[in-house]
Amino acid sequence: MNTSQVVVTGAASGIGAQTAQALRARGFGVIGLDRDEPAATDIRFVRADLSTSEGIAQAVAGVQQLSGGSIAGIANIAGVPGTAPWELVHRVNVFGLRDLTRGLAPFMAAGGSVVNLASAVAYRWRERIADLARFCAHEDAGSALALVDEIPAMREESYLFSKHCVRYLTEVQAAEFVERGIRVNSVSPGPIETPILEDFKTDHGRDKVESARDALGRFGQPADVAEVVAQLFDPAMAWVNGTDIRVDGGLTAVRETALYRGA
Ligand code: NAI
Repeated sequence: MNTSQVVVTGAASGIGAQTAQALRARGFGVIGLDRDEPAATDIRFVRADLSTSEGIAQAVAGVQQLSGGSIAGIANIAGVPGTAPWELVHRVNVFGLRDLTRGLAPFMAAGGSVVNLASAVAYRWRERIADLARFCAHEDAGSALALVDEIPAMREESYLFSKHCVRYLTEVQAAEFVERGIRVNSVSPGPIETPILEDFKTDHGRDKVESARDALGRFGQPADVAEVVAQLFDPAMAWVNGTDIRVDGGLTAVRETALYRGA
């Protein structure tokens, strides 16, 4: 019996809720963190608003109380779409993710695993690595957000920029934790049928999102992603570190090769 516990953010909905179930099926205990209460009755829950430093501190205190200060890892899944105010997108998707991991890192021992939800749309993140490094270097979200006049993409492409940051932070934190034997990876889904998908249609364009379903025959389902996230907590994945796993049914391959063929 696996008595290890994994913290899952965004556990009340979509990919987070399904990841909690995938981890339970593998015998892990789950501590769900969300602003809303999950329907699942076989996980423990800490209500937390990950958009503020106070909320993150409450989340860390709640996890410490429920876990006794020992966890096997963190699945950073909570996220908001680009239809939300741009500052909130970064507060949740970037600083919530980064600072929760920092706060919970002392509870993890060697063999620990952190999985961050990025996005398939974020694969060209290295092209703006200087801006990402500058933005993420700020300890405090408020001062990072003040860079917007110098880095307009923070507002103009808030969701994409936030997921570029997730890819960047995944490498940074993997390097930082390597000596402690804690792995940090990201998972990058294509369009998945969850409540956020309607917001993506508004943000990225309905045609673009729906053409993904036409190209692949269906949208991804939460379980398509959750099984991959849960697998990254398996000790057999010990040598997978500091990298990204794209889970998009082949969408990026289809779209990119169409570009080459058209060239
Ligand atoms: P969802 O909307 O079903 O779930 C998001 C969860 O995050 C909700 O339970 C929500 O309450 C929670 N959350 C949001 N803000 C919060 C805050 N301030 N504090 C605490 N909890 C908060 O969305 P879904 O699809 O499950 O998304 C999960 C992750 O996957 C997100 O990071 C999203 O960006 C990413 N993703 C989703 C894709 C999709 O097509 N569904 C595609 C690519 C990435």
